[in-house]
Amino acid sequence: MEIIFITSNKGKVKEAQKYFAPMGVKITQQEIEYPEIQAKELEEVVEFAIKWLKDKLNKPFFIDDSGLFIEALNGFPGVYSAYVFKTLGNEGILKLMEGVENRKAYFKSVIGYYDGEIHIFKGIVNGRIGYEKRGARGFGFDPIFIPEGFNKTFAEMTTEEKNKISHRGKALMSFSKWLKENLI
Ligand code: IMP
Repeated sequence: MEIIFITSNKGKVKEAQKYFAPMGVKITQQEIEYPEIQAKELEEVVEFAIKWLKDKLNKPFFIDDSGLFIEALNGFPGVYSAYVFKTLGNEGILKLMEGVENRKAYFKSVIGYYDGEIHIFKGIVNGRIGYEKRGARGFGFDPIFIPEGFNKTFAEMTTEEKNKISHRGKALMSFSKWLKENLI
């Protein structure tokens, strides 16, 4: 079985491919730019994007919208994570967090799959923001995020290690469970 993943993010594709490979599901990346509305919740962003995309493709597809939510910054960058990563980057977040004791943060991923209907799958991972960038793997905010129960950042983990505990790994797990029950 082959499923199309609409994204321009190669890091997300690698994680999905690693996750689905043992199940014999092939993930194919397709890059189509779609609008990401300014909404309070990732779920709203995903639903709007799917409704915009659905008539442009004639095969089932999925998208993933994720964000980093920092407690001391009242959930910032949250739904604005992509923009903030592009403008401030990891250094900018570390600067904003200078002198801040509460380092708690979580990542959330919302996957939307469309096969004539919209199916939503979610995952969250709690953790904390480090004091410096560590590691060279992964993408985005991985070098500054230390998941709960670990002393290393996502960027210091292999894709398999990250998938086992990450927000996206959890969303992919419920997506794959649903696929098994309904399609494969
Ligand atoms: P979007 O889901 O493409 O809107 O991306 C949200 C932003 O959060 C991007 O800047 C990503 O780099 C970042 N992001 C999303 N997921 C992850 C992750 O698993 N690790 C690190 N950064 C992430």
